[in-house]
Amino acid sequence: MRKKLWITMLVLAMIFAVALTGCGGGQEESDEIVIGAVFGMTGDIATFGQSSKEAIEMRVKEVNESGGVLGRQVRVVFEDNKSLATETALAVEKLIEQDEVVAIIGAIASTNTLAGAPIAQDAGVPMISGTSTAESVTEVGDYIFRACFIDPFQGRVAAQFALQNLEAKTAAVLTDVGSDYSMGLRDVFVENFTAGGGKVVQTSEFVVQDTDFNAVLTNVKAQNPDVVYVPAYYNSVGLILAQAADLGIDATFIGTDGWDSPTLFELAGDAANGHFFTNHYSPDADVPEVQDFIAAYGAAYNGKTPDALAALGYDAFNMTLDAITRAGSTDGEAIRDALAETAGFVGVCGTITMDEKRNPIKSAVMIEIKDQKQVYNATVSPE
Ligand code: PHE
Repeated sequence: MRKKLWITMLVLAMIFAVALTGCGGGQEESDEIVIGAVFGMTGDIATFGQSSKEAIEMRVKEVNESGGVLGRQVRVVFEDNKSLATETALAVEKLIEQDEVVAIIGAIASTNTLAGAPIAQDAGVPMISGTSTAESVTEVGDYIFRACFIDPFQGRVAAQFALQNLEAKTAAVLTDVGSDYSMGLRDVFVENFTAGGGKVVQTSEFVVQDTDFNAVLTNVKAQNPDVVYVPAYYNSVGLILAQAADLGIDATFIGTDGWDSPTLFELAGDAANGHFFTNHYSPDADVPEVQDFIAAYGAAYNGKTPDALAALGYDAFNMTLDAITRAGSTDGEAIRDALAETAGFVGVCGTITMDEKRNPIKSAVMIEIKDQKQVYNATVSPE
């Protein structure tokens, strides 16, 4: 009887020990590879986060159906930063502490990524933004990467387009002063437009909460510039374009990737027509990477055409999976090293080769708005 009890206890202890090692080992020993994603799925730039999330969810399914990465299934934990910087920092902390993610995709707006990146850097967790174009983002540290071009390039493309294609001599610039992205682009545009012989006749500031732009636009009307550069997000831009048309301003507006949202057309309607913006890709591009992506995304989401946010979210995620595969490990340092060595990676928005500052060297496209639709106008490559 005694012996039996002793054996039972021994068996129980063994089961307990096995159970403990099974769940206490962290990600290295668990089956799944867990990756975090921080996007604004609600708030000022919500369509950006929604598109990015859709593209990544679609890809997760495909990857897992074909056997996963390093033979393991991939799971993405999405956090909504409500389009805010403070929430981004909290979300990055949560993903690292609680979910023990091996890498983080995000955020979208540069200001938000800048709030989360120092936390990822300190923790040694690679953070890859698909879309944050402000130069300072990857300067946070050697664990911070992006899948898009940077604003010193994006702003120069706009200035050159204004000078050469539109033969503009004068420009007004309207800036969202709550955004590092908007302020950085303003500086680059002014520098390049002026260096190319143009004259900046007005620089005005606004904040994302503004809804009445009449004072600023009345000044634009009085200055009568050839072009108005608005490096900002679609919510403000939609209102600006609508109110500019109401005031009878006939200058051509030039914008940036932040214009890329169907909401812009809801707000501006036909007032958006005839204007231009720089972007990361055009669904019109007749290359297999673009057309295959559009077909897959359309099949997954009721025929919807993916915007640049979806395409870049997809590229950032795939670039990360590619780095994990080449690293053969989910160790933060190994992933970081593999990301830094990314070369010739073929994405939807072009081929990515990282420079020494963890920024891809890539082309931009110029989009023209016609009949409330985005129409491909030109591709501009870095010299
Ligand atoms: N480039 C923007 C930023 O850095 C974000 C963005 C990218 C928005 C692409 C739209 C499309 O803040």
